[in-house]
Amino acid sequence: MTQLQITAFGPPSVLKLNPSLDGMPAEGEVRVRICYAAVNPIDAKTRAGLGWAAAENRDKLPWTPGYDMAGVVEALGPGVESLKVGDKVCGMIGFPLQGGAYAESALTPAELLVPLEEVSLKQGAALPLAGLTAWQGLFDHGELKQGQRVLILAGAGGVGHLAVQWARAYGAKVTALASPANHGFLHGIGAERLVDYHDPDWVDQVGQVELVLDLVGGESGKAALGCVASGGRLITVPTITAEAIKQAGSELGIEVRGMLVQPNPKQLAQMLTLLRIDEAQICINREFELADGALAHAAIEAGHTRGKLLLRMPAAGMDE
Ligand SMILES: NC(=O)c1ccc[n+]([C@@H]2O[C@H](COP(=O)([O-])OP(=O)(O)OC[C@H]3O[C@@H](n4cnc5c(N)ncnc54)[C@H](OP(=O)(O)O)[C@@H]3O)[C@@H](O)[C@H]2O)c1
Repeated sequence: MTQLQITAFGPPSVLKLNPSLDGMPAEGEVRVRICYAAVNPIDAKTRAGLGWAAAENRDKLPWTPGYDMAGVVEALGPGVESLKVGDKVCGMIGFPLQGGAYAESALTPAELLVPLEEVSLKQGAALPLAGLTAWQGLFDHGELKQGQRVLILAGAGGVGHLAVQWARAYGAKVTALASPANHGFLHGIGAERLVDYHDPDWVDQVGQVELVLDLVGGESGKAALGCVASGGRLITVPTITAEAIKQAGSELGIEVRGMLVQPNPKQLAQMLTLLRIDEAQICINREFELADGALAHAAIEAGHTRGKLLLRMPAAGMDE
């Protein structure tokens, strides 16, 4: 099998295709023939040598990035009864230190995988990390309640467009921050109010909300503190600037929490149900062949992706 690896920290060109042998699943594991993997900003940050995942992996290069995948179970390790060969599954695998989804096959504990049933392999690959981040940010850390107002920064991105839909499905009132070109898209998936973050007075336009989901960080995250209603909370998701925003919040007496997404097959199954019953859709912006992963990284680093980017493996062609 072939995998796309980070050979050294640097620009997208450090990503190289390398051959490897398919692994044999150990106790409790399965081997999945991957059809699609999703590209997340953390993959590009790690490749560039930034953030905690790069720090943890600097002695392990070449390293195969990728945490999101969908594919077909092709071998079972001893003791696996929850899945069978031929099942179509998706999951968030190898998080945070192992990675491994930028590959034609991967070994993973069966317990991390969820059957797709009628959900497509593409949607299944695009969902896990972004969907779980949105879900955990809104509900586990943000403790969003029905009828509350929530502001979502970067509403059109991979995490943001799912956060808009989870919050709307839960009965919250959603304001999203995005470029004007994304306003129609976001309105169509349930954002009640759209504000352009290029307007210098965007904080005043938003007004007060009970919860801010900050998917941008830095100065935008700090500015969004001005939108938090008394007793409200801001969840800042980019880890690199989280401490600075927590500090700024504490100076203003506003509760700020950082977070790190966790694999959670139960929540993943709930999100798949929402896709299955058409309560939500994932926007697949673009697909790249595995060999063109460097182009996918350049695209995600440009910072204006609407929805998700996918890497397509040869097995995708056999399936669809
Ligand atoms: N802590 C964790 O566990 C965790 C998990 C997942 C993601 N993250 C982090 O969360 C962030 C978002 O992830 P993602 O996958 O959603 O990223 P993404 O898909 O790359 O986000 C792209 C979106 O960002 C918007 N954007 C860019 N600059 C903006 C600004 N100044 N204000 C508002 N929106 C802006 C763009 O909107 P326009 O095109 O409309 O400009 C675009 O739609 C990343 O930093 C990622 O690393 C952290």
